[in-house]
Amino acid sequence: MQQVRAVIARSKGAPVEIATINVPDPGPGEAVVKVLTCGVCHTDLHYREGGINDDFPFLLGHEASGIVESVGTEVSDLAPGDFVVLNWRAVCGDCRACRRGEPQYCFSTHNAKQKMTLEDGTELSPALGIGAFAEKTLVAAGQCTKVDPEARPAAVGLLGCGVMAGIGAAINTGAVTRGKSVAVIGCGGVGVAAIAGSALAGASPIIAVDIDAKKLETARALGATHLVDSSVTDPIEEIKRICAETYGGAEGADVVIEAVGRPETWKQAFYARDLAGTVVLVGVPTPDMKIPEIPLIDVFGRGGALKSSWYGDCLPSRDFPMLVDLYRQGRLDLDAFVTEEIGIRDVEAAFERMHHGDVLRSVVIL
Ligand code: APR
Ligand code: ZN
Ligand code: ZN
Repeated sequence: MQQVRAVIARSKGAPVEIATINVPDPGPGEAVVKVLTCGVCHTDLHYREGGINDDFPFLLGHEASGIVESVGTEVSDLAPGDFVVLNWRAVCGDCRACRRGEPQYCFSTHNAKQKMTLEDGTELSPALGIGAFAEKTLVAAGQCTKVDPEARPAAVGLLGCGVMAGIGAAINTGAVTRGKSVAVIGCGGVGVAAIAGSALAGASPIIAVDIDAKKLETARALGATHLVDSSVTDPIEEIKRICAETYGGAEGADVVIEAVGRPETWKQAFYARDLAGTVVLVGVPTPDMKIPEIPLIDVFGRGGALKSSWYGDCLPSRDFPMLVDLYRQGRLDLDAFVTEEIGIRDVEAAFERMHHGDVLRSVVIL
C-alpha cells in the first residue's frame, strides 16, 4: 500500500478537495499506474453533483495517461514502465456480447477488485472505475491500453473518454466512410471529436451545427466544411440544402450525430438525415428527458437507423493505438483538444470554466 494525493468529491454539490488516499498494491489482474495527465470531463462534474449515483466519496478523473508502476499476478501483457491510456471498457471475454464477437458492447467490463480508500479507511468510488485525478491509481490491467510512448501524454490521454466517444460515434457507430455526408449537432469536445473523426474517414460535406459561434470556429479548425449557427438559421433546412448541393437528390445528411443530449436537438437530427440515413445519439440525456413526439409513420417511412453510441462503441485495444498512430502521423489533431494544462488544485476552477464554453478540455498534469 502507498499514499498519494488525489481529488475527492466528498459530498453532493460540495467543491472538490485534495486528500491523501491509500492505494493498495496490485492484486491478481490489477495494475498500479503512475498518472501523468487526466482531462476534466463533464461526467466528473456530474459525479460531484450527485447526478450519477450517491456513492460518495468519489475519486474523480477518468481521461488519463500514465506509466504502469507495478502489476499483480495473472497479468501477462502489461509490465512496469509501459506507457498507457486508461479506458473504462476492459472487456470480460465471457459475456454474451463478447462471446458473439462484439466485445465493444461488453456488458461486464473489469475494474480493480480492491478498493482505494481515504486515510481513515473509507472506501472511495473511482469515477467510471478509474479515478485518475491522483498521483497513482489502481485499475484492472485490462483498463490499461499500451500506446506509442513517444506521443504527448496530455493529448493522447483524452482518448480515454470524450474524444474517443466523439470519434467513435462517427467511425464506429455511424459507420462514416469516404463519400458520406455528415452533420454534427453540438460542437463541444465530443461534437468536434465527431467532426475530426468524420474528416479522418473522408466524409464530405461535414456540417457543424451549434448555437455558439465560437464553437463553430473550433469545428472548422478540426475539419468542418460548413458551419450552421442554429440560433439564427433552421438547421434542418440548411443541412438539407448543403447536402443536396453536394449530392443532387439528397434529402439530408447520411449520418447526423447528436452531441448535445437533448430531445429538441435529437428531433433536429431525425429530420436532418437523408432517407435511409443514420442518427447517432452520443450526447447524454438526463433521466427526465423523453423521446420527442414524432409520427411513427415518419420513423417507418424514412427508413434507416436510430442509434446511440456509448463510449463511441470503441474497443480500446483496437482503437487507441490506431488513433495515436494517426495523431503521430499528423492526421488527427489531438493537441487541438487540449485547451489548457492545469494543476491538481485547479479542478474546481476547470468545472467553472466548463459553463463558459471556451474550453474543449482542461488537462491536469500530475
Ligand atoms: N443546438 C446546438 N448546439 C447546442 C444546443 C442546441 N440547442 N445546446 C447546446 N449546444 C452546444 C453547446 O453550445 C456546446 O458547444 O452543444 C455543445 C455541448 O458541448 P459541451 O457542453 O462542451 O459538452 P461535450 O463535452 O461536448 O459533451 C456533449 O456528450 O458526453 C456527452 O455528457 C456529455 O451530454 C454531453 C455531450
Ligand atoms: Zn464481455
Ligand atoms: Zn468522460
